[in-house]
Amino acid sequence: MRVAITGAAGFLGRKLAGRLAATGRLGRTPITGMTLVDVVMPAAPQGAPFPVTCRAGDIAAPGGADHLADAGTGAVFHLAAVVSAQAEADFDLGWRVNLDGTRAVLEACRRAGSRPRLVFTSSVASYSGGQAAVIADDQRPIPANSYGAQKAAGELLVHDHARKGHVDGVSLRLPTIVVRPGRPNRAASSFASSILREPLIGEEAHLPVPEDFALWIASPRAATDWLIHAATMDTAPLGLDRGLNPPGLTVTVREMLAALEAVGGHAAMRLVSRVEDPDVAAIVGAWPARFDAARAKALGFREHEGIEAVVRAFVEDDLAETRALRG
Ligand SMILES: NC(=O)c1ccc[n+]([C@@H]2O[C@H](COP(=O)([O-])OP(=O)(O)OC[C@H]3O[C@@H](n4cnc5c(N)ncnc54)[C@H](O)[C@@H]3O)[C@@H](O)[C@H]2O)c1
Repeated sequence: MRVAITGAAGFLGRKLAGRLAATGRLGRTPITGMTLVDVVMPAAPQGAPFPVTCRAGDIAAPGGADHLADAGTGAVFHLAAVVSAQAEADFDLGWRVNLDGTRAVLEACRRAGSRPRLVFTSSVASYSGGQAAVIADDQRPIPANSYGAQKAAGELLVHDHARKGHVDGVSLRLPTIVVRPGRPNRAASSFASSILREPLIGEEAHLPVPEDFALWIASPRAATDWLIHAATMDTAPLGLDRGLNPPGLTVTVREMLAALEAVGGHAAMRLVSRVEDPDVAAIVGAWPARFDAARAKALGFREHEGIEAVVRAFVEDDLAETRALRG
C-alpha cells in the first residue's frame, strides 16, 4: 500500500515518516511507497525500504494537493497546519491552510477513488472550558480561538467525507505534544516544551503561567503510536462519530519542573523563570487539561507514560539533535 503524509517536514510528520521507514509496514501491510508533502521541502527518512517521493507545495493552493493520493494509496496522514498562535495572529492564513487545505486533501482522496484511511490531526484546542473542565467523549467542541475553530471545522469535513465513503476517516484531537525537539515554534503551548527542553541544553526558559497550571499533554512517542493505531484500527465501531480524544496525560507545570529536576538536576530547574505573557495565557488558559478518554482506550489507543518517562525519552530520542541544531 502507498502512504502519504502532509506536513511531512514538521515535527510529528518527520517522526511518523521515520517510524514508518524503520518498520516498512503500516500495521501488517507492507508499505510500497510514500509521498511526503509540505510547503517546506520534506526530507526522505533515512533507510526507507520503499521509494519516497518528496514534494514542496502549498496544499491550499490550486492543485497543491493533487498528487497526494492515487488508486494505490491506502492511508493519508493529514498533518499540515498553521499552528495556534500563528493562526490566531493571521486569521486569513489560518482558515486558508487549516480549512481550505484540509478540504483540498479530502478532495484529492475522493478523486483517488481508493477510499484511503485518512488520519486528521485535530487538537485539544477545539475545546474550551479551561482548568475547570473535564471533557467527556461526547462533549461538543466550543473553540475559544481560530485554530480550534479551524480544527473543529476540519473534523466536520472528515466526518462528511467519511459518511459519503470518500475516505475512511479518523480525527485525533491531539493533546499538546511535549517535548518538542529543536526550537520554539509559534504554538501558544510552545512554552510547555521550552521549560523542559531549554534547561536540558543549558539555556533559560520563560514560564508564562503559574506552577499549578495543568495541561493535557502527550509525548512524541505516544502521538506517533496513536497516529499509526488510528491508521490501522477497525473503524467499524466508530460509526458516524469519527473524532477521538486519545488518552493523554494531565500534568501541572510543578510536576513538569519536578521531572526536569529528576532528569536534569537542580541547576536545570533553576533556568526556568516566570515571565507573564497575557496573549499566550489567554489562548492556553481556555484549553481543558482533563479528559475522560474512555472511548479511545476501549478502541485500543495505548495509555500514556508518566511525565518523568516523557523527559527521559526526549533525552534519548532528541537531545543530541536539538543540541546540534541550536549550536
Ligand atoms: N505539536 C502539538 O503540540 C500538536 C497538538 C495538537 C495538534 N497538533 C496538530 O498536529 C499536526 C502536526 O503538528 P506539528 O507539531 O508537527 O506541527 P509543525 O508546525 O511542526 O508541522 C506542520 C507542518 O505543516 C506545514 N504546512 C503549513 N502550511 C502548509 C501548507 N499550506 N501546505 C503544506 N504544508 C504546510 C509546515 O511547513 C509544517 O512543516 C498539526 O496538524 C497540528 O495542528 C499538534
